[in-house]
Amino acid sequence: MQAAAIAQPNIALVKYWGKRDTRQNLPAVGSISVTLHGLETEMHVRLTTDAKNDALTVNGKSAETMLPRISKALDTILGADRKYAMVTSRSNFPIAAGLASSASAFAALTVAAAAANGATHSPELLARLAGGASGSAARSIFGGFVELKKGGDAIEVSQLATKEDWPLAVMVAVTASGPKSIGSTEAMEISRKTSPFYSAWVDRQSDDLDRARAAIREKDFRALAAVSEHSCLKMHSIMWASRPPLVYWNAATLRCMETIRALQASGVAVFFTIDAGPQLKAVCDRDVADVVYAALQSTEGVVQVLRSGLGGGARRIGSD
Ligand code: PMV
Repeated sequence: MQAAAIAQPNIALVKYWGKRDTRQNLPAVGSISVTLHGLETEMHVRLTTDAKNDALTVNGKSAETMLPRISKALDTILGADRKYAMVTSRSNFPIAAGLASSASAFAALTVAAAAANGATHSPELLARLAGGASGSAARSIFGGFVELKKGGDAIEVSQLATKEDWPLAVMVAVTASGPKSIGSTEAMEISRKTSPFYSAWVDRQSDDLDRARAAIREKDFRALAAVSEHSCLKMHSIMWASRPPLVYWNAATLRCMETIRALQASGVAVFFTIDAGPQLKAVCDRDVADVVYAALQSTEGVVQVLRSGLGGGARRIGSD
């Protein structure tokens, strides 16, 4: 009764911010993301009747504070009358810092726990189960370009294009590696309740989704860049106008934006996006990846640049 799985984080191009049902974790808006390559979370799940509690180890250390969320997710994936789970997680990139580590963690947990329990779920069902724990985790079940629909009364995810269809590169400029000040679930509720821009955001999301879908279908980089940067800045405007304000950027995040603007002005096909953290993600054509990497690397305040491309969906590994 054990299994292991690997999943990669994803970066939203059309952002998800806000829930319409916190109990079922249903998003208030649809979103479109790209699944990354090379940044990985590996999860091992062993189900046992010999324990009195679940247990969690993250990167070699016991992680008591994260355990309640994992246990809740396991209840959704396996049912409340499940066995206890011994869970071991390892990520090869900074966690809880706006790098979507919850997406890769809950996607890998879902695949590993379902397999340990002997279930053979479809990717659609795995996405639904993963999305119960973290909306963005639903998208990491699939690779390439992925859409999370606002949908009906359950989470619905589908792949829009594969990583081979349009093999873009992604550079992640890490500007601070500590955990973020406030988690996205709590922050989304603050925005929903207090931001004067929140309802306009929800109302206009379908326009951005239409534009992004068309850009992906036609491989129109300029159109994808325009809608992605707009969605990112719109989401951060809602955050800034929330009470208390939610400001995830630091000075280096802004300097990275200036770096991207300078590259664009010199004709380089690149755009930026930023999630609930201070890291800037630059999406570009593969043939300019070296130029973008070097420019971000030499931007003041950048701690590290992680090179990535588009990756595949969550998958089971090994036979344990
Ligand atoms: O699903 P969560 O709780 O990890 O929230 C994701 C929120 C953003 O990363 C800011 C946007 C997104 O669509 O991934």
